Amino acid sequence: MALRKGLAAALQISRIMRPDDANIAGNVHGGTVLKMIEEAGAIISTRHCNSTPGERCIAALARVERTDFVSPMSIGEVAHVSAEITYTSKHSVEVQVNVLAENIITGGKKLTNRATLWYVPLSLQNVDKILEVPPFQAFSTLVLEGLRQYESQEQENEGRKRYEAQKLERLETKQRNDVILPTVNTEPYTVGISQSSLIHLVGPSDCTLQGFVHGGVTMKLMDEVAGIVAARHCKTNIVTASVDAINFHRKIQKGCVITVSGRLTFTSNKSMEIEVFVDVDPFVDDPQARYRAVSAFFTFVSLSKEGKPLPVPQVVVKTEEEKKRFEEGKGRYLQSKTRRQAAPHPLTQQ
Ligand code: COA
Repeated sequence: MALRKGLAAALQISRIMRPDDANIAGNVHGGTVLKMIEEAGAIISTRHCNSTPGERCIAALARVERTDFVSPMSIGEVAHVSAEITYTSKHSVEVQVNVLAENIITGGKKLTNRATLWYVPLSLQNVDKILEVPPFQAFSTLVLEGLRQYESQEQENEGRKRYEAQKLERLETKQRNDVILPTVNTEPYTVGISQSSLIHLVGPSDCTLQGFVHGGVTMKLMDEVAGIVAARHCKTNIVTASVDAINFHRKIQKGCVITVSGRLTFTSNKSMEIEVFVDVDPFVDDPQARYRAVSAFFTFVSLSKEGKPLPVPQVVVKTEEEKKRFEEGKGRYLQSKTRRQAAPHPLTQQ
């Protein structure tokens, strides 16, 4: 979906994948990919939001649409992350990002991921102040040099539809407020035995220069915890298959302590759904109570040594709540399976 010459320039970032980007089987973590995607999105949207005179700003990640990891990436491959702006509303920017993995020995390239992210410009003087986004011009057959413009009327209309749809979905999405409590259950394959948490002190390297956490850093921690839950459950090599839409409602400030917790909600024959919560204790700067910053569902798949999906042990659900979450997970699984079957991803490109 190329934009016309002179319009929002696409951005491309390339980086070779190293051992610390991957698990011990050499598969690049989903979290590493999500972090690269978010970095590309933050650069292009901040650039766009500062492209006209006026108050300077930084673009903060507000939402990531559901994203599928369509093929694995390995250590030694080069990740090419390309981003372009595809829609602007008054206060938000939609960015589409594609990730290709290149084998630099054979020259082969494959699409690994496609993601859609929404950013909101925050004033550098006061990060609680939301600024207006320089708009793309409505489509017209007269292209003026330097003006950013949609490629066609259809592109503009499609963008508006996506914007309206996500706005509606956000209103309908209920923030999950339950907590994951420690458990003494040692029975195999129960929810309690694999649930896991990670506690992290938010430092300067996690944050923007304005002192709040980069969305990509949060998603990487969430993927890490989900991966630990999945590996504890099936005890094999596991990879991220997809992440459901994530909304970032509140900033996480430098100096906070965050607890990232994950638990298994559903198992299909060959996949596991893990629910992840990010809770923030802002006690260093502010005495206010703990709050839930983000929650999301990750789907993981277990792989054989040859990289083929393996059947996973079925989760043993004990309590009424676990049974309810299992049924809800099954609903999401069936929905996403139907959607994938209706629109299969292209696995290779170029
Ligand atoms: N997804 C997409 N767009 C969103 C959004 C979301 N979850 N939440 C808000 N927006 C958009 C709105 O559509 C609106 O744009 P529009 O006027 O063109 O429709 C714009 O943001 C402002 O919405 P508003 O309701 O006035 O603001 P808010 O009080 O909800 O604040 C944020 C929006 C993004 C600034 C706020 O939720 C926030 O600070 N989130 C955390 C950002 C962050 O720290 N990111 C890194 C996470 S680790």
